[in-house]
Amino acid sequence: MSLPIKENIYYVGAQDVERRLFDALIPLPDGTSYNSYIIRGSGKTALIDTVDPTKTQILLDNLKALGIQKLDYIIAHHGEQDHSGSIPAVLKVYPSAKVVTNQKCKDELIDLMMISDDKFMVINDRETLSLGDKTLEFIFAPWVHWPETMLTYLREDKILFTCDFLGAHLSTKELYFADINKLYQSAKRYYAEIMMPFRVSIKKHVETVRSLAPTLIAPSHGPLHNNPAFILDAYQDWVSDTVKNEVVIPYVSMHGSTQAMVDYFVKALEGKGIKALPFDLAEADIGELAMALVDASTVVIGSPTVLAGPHPKAVFAAVLANALRPKTKYVSIIGSFGWGGKMVEQLSALLPNLKVEVLAPVLAKGYPKETDFKGIDKLVEAIYNRKQ
Ligand code: FEO
Repeated sequence: MSLPIKENIYYVGAQDVERRLFDALIPLPDGTSYNSYIIRGSGKTALIDTVDPTKTQILLDNLKALGIQKLDYIIAHHGEQDHSGSIPAVLKVYPSAKVVTNQKCKDELIDLMMISDDKFMVINDRETLSLGDKTLEFIFAPWVHWPETMLTYLREDKILFTCDFLGAHLSTKELYFADINKLYQSAKRYYAEIMMPFRVSIKKHVETVRSLAPTLIAPSHGPLHNNPAFILDAYQDWVSDTVKNEVVIPYVSMHGSTQAMVDYFVKALEGKGIKALPFDLAEADIGELAMALVDASTVVIGSPTVLAGPHPKAVFAAVLANALRPKTKYVSIIGSFGWGGKMVEQLSALLPNLKVEVLAPVLAKGYPKETDFKGIDKLVEAIYNRKQ
């Protein structure tokens, strides 16, 4: 099914409603889509990105239904397979098409998809390509979220194709999504999981997009944005250095001792008017955890000592937080132990990317007692008094 966007510009991508996991890691509560677009110029026809290899046939059927007999260019913004995985199949049907991309992406596509060298047309940053009455301008946007990523601006129609950037894992049959709150949450989840580690680069790219003043943003996941300010303002907030006085508490408890500490901690924080966001790692959606990390000033990991170290689920949370590089300012650890161990040292060593102040941890021997709860009170006081 293709959908018209503007005259001679069509959506030809595929929905993946059933998909529930991305990268064998990220939960997809609302599925996702692999957006692909056809631009028919007066002289040439270009396909913007392809789809995940599992959906190749849908893309090919969409192109056929539109009557695309000759394809001149396949614009590859990004080497990752969910957008480039169908390029070999498209090239089989349209053998004269050239894959238009930058040198880095070309190298990736040769490595990942074994596309032969003669199929490529390599372009430079800000180079243009004429389709006749329509002009494509390529804008390199490295680290969104790979080093080769780029955007394409369709000048005459003021449409910016952004691939992963400004997207959302949200499957919908509509080009535009009416429920703006839902779209905001999906876009934030997507930012948290994929873009947040590259916050510094993303800041610059947000400015670049604003300077182009597109009237339509067409990413390669999720709905299009016919109000670019909505998504750009949201990104500006997320990438800013401003944090909220919120405490994210990823925790795990085996026999209730750490749970009792977390419960007390949450209540004490709320008593001071500080928002507490506890995530029981035994069942937490890590996408929700990632979203909470976007704004929070403080992360406190709760874990029992198991086999002389932190619980493996707490290790996972620490590794994840370290990889996502949130703008967190303060970190601490609470939990219980039976006979000793190196939990604090081991967890702290897993967070080298976070440029944070470490607040005094609170460790209880066995079930927490009066002195341990006093320690938690002190931790809450320290969080309360820190500058945000
Ligand atoms: Fe949607 Fe980085 O691929």
